[in-house]
Amino acid sequence: MNIVLIGFMGSGKTAVGRELASVLKREFLDTDDLIEQETALSINEIFLRYGEKEFRKLEKSIVHRASGRADVVIATGGGAVLDPQNVSALKKNGILVYLSLSPEEVVQRLNNDDSRPLLNKEDKENAVVSLLEKRIPIYESVADLVFDTEGKSIKELAGNIFHELQNMKAIDLHSSGLSG
Ligand code: S3P
Repeated sequence: MNIVLIGFMGSGKTAVGRELASVLKREFLDTDDLIEQETALSINEIFLRYGEKEFRKLEKSIVHRASGRADVVIATGGGAVLDPQNVSALKKNGILVYLSLSPEEVVQRLNNDDSRPLLNKEDKENAVVSLLEKRIPIYESVADLVFDTEGKSIKELAGNIFHELQNMKAIDLHSSGLSG
């Protein structure tokens, strides 16, 4: 099974995913990084030159390709699971782990960040609140596991996810080299 991190921008999907992959000795894939590698453009440039619709097409093809892999850890972009076909591809062979956080925390974490085109607005706070409000029900409905990220370090979160997956017997400790 793949482990798939989902959730809003700034929730730590990439950092936690990378840590979890290293603990599990699995390969780590980040869909935004793959899109950037494939196009040789930044996410901002893709939105600027081609618009969100084209970005979502690229995202969809990368998500489907990543879903075809086995036993990898995948960090998705915050909008990837808004597409039901992406969700079914990811779920076929993966456990969806939702990293949750409040709008206040998003604003605090991304205050000086200009790498998220959907939040590069004059009123960033308002953009976060309205997007998050629409998305929370979707994240919650597709998630197999939910972890609140607030006040937790990357290592703590990765550890908590690891233990939960272990309890669910969703990971094979022998193949991760962590048995005994
Ligand atoms: C997006 C989230 C971003 C990136 C793009 C769109 C979204 O990824 O895919 O800017 O719609 O929430 P992160 O969640 O990794 O920031």
